[in-house]
Amino acid sequence: MNNEKVRLTVRGKFITFEGIDGAGKSTHIESTASLIRSRGAEVVVTREPGGTPLGEKLRALLLSEPMHLETETLLMFAARREHLACVIEPALDRGVWVISDRFTDATRAYQGGGRGVDAAKIEQLARWVHPHTNPDLTLLFDLSREVAQARLTTSRTLDRFEQEQGNFHSLVRSEYLKLAQAEPSRFRVIDASLTQEKIKKLLEKIIITI
Ligand code: TMP
Repeated sequence: MNNEKVRLTVRGKFITFEGIDGAGKSTHIESTASLIRSRGAEVVVTREPGGTPLGEKLRALLLSEPMHLETETLLMFAARREHLACVIEPALDRGVWVISDRFTDATRAYQGGGRGVDAAKIEQLARWVHPHTNPDLTLLFDLSREVAQARLTTSRTLDRFEQEQGNFHSLVRSEYLKLAQAEPSRFRVIDASLTQEKIKKLLEKIIITI
């Protein structure tokens, strides 16, 4: 008889936070991670672009250097490939939950919706870079551009995306809402104009369902 024990590890859950700049998602990431930890799961909190030493260097370039819109898209996916290989996939495989502050929906919304990069090209890259890893849950913090802009701190220099003028952020917002409509089982849209306390309660309700 074979006495070897087979250990089955349940893959961790992958949760992403999305929304236009100033929507306030970052405030809720740590409290969501604490909530999940209190329910007994291990959680890694990370972000895009970034999350690895190389990814953080790419982030610094992406947030400051002017570049061609397709270069920007490719660098987002290069940082993402590194992030998946070094952080996201090893954690999920060990049964650890991953919360990422942005993922591929940000490329769909910012580079696709905001800059006009062909959606088919973005999907081709997504299939190449993460054919088997997609978020189990995406929390979309939705807020009008006007309110979000007023919330952006004036005490620091705004990055290249935050500085975008015209209807850029409205285009990003409407692309996010289209994505949420197209995949209602993955997305939960959070009204980011609610108080922090109300949002926290909403998030608690959502987290216990996954
Ligand atoms: P953050 O300020 O929320 O960390 O995000 C950095 C900026 O990068 C934000 O303005 C959105 C932008 N971004 C994209 O344009 N495409 C992407 O794929 C990602 C991950 C972020």
